[in-house]
Amino acid sequence: MRSLFASVSLLLALPLVGCPVSVPADLGDCPDGSTVTWTTVEPVFADNCTRCHSTSLVGSADRLSAPEDWDYDTADASVRDPDESWRRIYIENMPPDAEMSDADKLLVWEWYSCDAPN
Ligand code: HEC
Repeated sequence: MRSLFASVSLLLALPLVGCPVSVPADLGDCPDGSTVTWTTVEPVFADNCTRCHSTSLVGSADRLSAPEDWDYDTADASVRDPDESWRRIYIENMPPDAEMSDADKLLVWEWYSCDAPN
């Protein structure tokens, strides 16, 4: 009986394995003791966004149609609209051509939620 219970518990627990973190839908409170700065997130934006959204790319063709003035290669440019930037990442609309890891998403979430420290 005890081993049956153990097996059932194990089965119920299985779906939880593999998704230890949840990505929040909205920006929120800066976590206590956060150390995330621009130096932390710059490589994340570089991996996921700046091949289209960069101040160094001019013209629709080079930007792969990303709108002008929406850029993620500098801290100043990246805070044009944190909520909208996060919304596009959260709904997996951006980047349009690749998957972004939850770990990368959470770094961007934390940086924006902490008011984008330099
Ligand atoms: C392969 C090119 C490409 C990549 C990579 C990319 N984008 Fe985009 N982005 C676009 C295009 C094209 C549009 C315009 C179409 C649309 O609004 O969906 C766009 C639109 C946007 C908009 C809406 C701007 C507006 O006018 O309201 C935001 C915000 C945005 N992207 C953020 C990001 C972020 C953040 C990343 C990285 C996590 C990213 N994008 C990666 C091509 C890209």
